[in-house]
Amino acid sequence: MSRLAGKVALVTGGNAGIGEAIAKRFAGEGASVVITGRRQAELDRVIQDIERQNGKAFAVAGSVTDERHAQAAVGEVVRRFGALDILINNAGVGEFGRRLHELDDETWARVLDINLTGVFRMTRAAIPEMLKQGRGSIVNISSIASLVGIPCLSVYAASKGALDALTRSVAIDYAKDGIRCNAVNPGLIATPMAAPLMANPEQLDPILNHYPIRRPGKPEEVANMVLYLASDEAAWVTGGSYPIDGGMTVW
Ligand SMILES: NC(=O)c1ccc[n+]([C@@H]2O[C@H](COP(=O)([O-])OP(=O)(O)OC[C@H]3O[C@@H](n4cnc5c(N)ncnc54)[C@H](OP(=O)(O)O)[C@@H]3O)[C@@H](O)[C@H]2O)c1
Repeated sequence: MSRLAGKVALVTGGNAGIGEAIAKRFAGEGASVVITGRRQAELDRVIQDIERQNGKAFAVAGSVTDERHAQAAVGEVVRRFGALDILINNAGVGEFGRRLHELDDETWARVLDINLTGVFRMTRAAIPEMLKQGRGSIVNISSIASLVGIPCLSVYAASKGALDALTRSVAIDYAKDGIRCNAVNPGLIATPMAAPLMANPEQLDPILNHYPIRRPGKPEEVANMVLYLASDEAAWVTGGSYPIDGGMTVW
């Protein structure tokens, strides 16, 4: 039995990395999947891959920083598939390598606008549909940076720490309406975001020394955890933040 049969899922940033792995895993489990992202060519590539595997998917291009896009994406999902059961707030950007006093206002605002306010916009657009249905599952892709201190990551850590707090608030406010909300906190995952680091053993090796399972994670491994939280198997799970990190945060 497919674990997401009959479900409709919206995955932000579904055209690369972790979001792509989630979109493909969900489609393979019977969900109708809608992906977003700014790069049309990458959206087209993922949709073609899913359709080749007989999955159902389409894309809505745009940025989570744009309120019209948030409304249009949710509207298009409901128009095409008649419902919205699952929202995966995955779109995000990294900002690594500088200490706080080296950050300019533009960088601070941009990272928060995408990683935090973007989640607010997409969630605000999705919740009215979930309220109408009396059901919904929201999974926010956070980071271990919200759980432990990591050097030179201040604005990124701030965005993800706030995202975990937002996750708890949404969980409490909408539990009575049948809407659950959880966060997943990945450690280092081999995606385009991490590619520069992965290509540099001098930087990578000291980082991997902090991981008991001494390798980066795979996007598909994150997708497996997200699948559980998004599905009805997790019907009694809400408000949590779940590390997937090769043991990094418990060492
Ligand atoms: N890789 C890691 O080590 C790691 C660890 C912990 C947490 N995470 C989190 O996991 C999530 C996915 O990261 P990833 O590693 O898969 O990164 P990635 O490979 O760089 O992919 C990022 C995705 O987000 C989309 N995106 C970025 N800005 C956007 C915007 N303004 N509007 C809509 N979509 C946008 C990108 O598409 P477009 O560029 O086409 O817009 C792309 O699909 C992020 O939230 C990240 O913080 C990653």
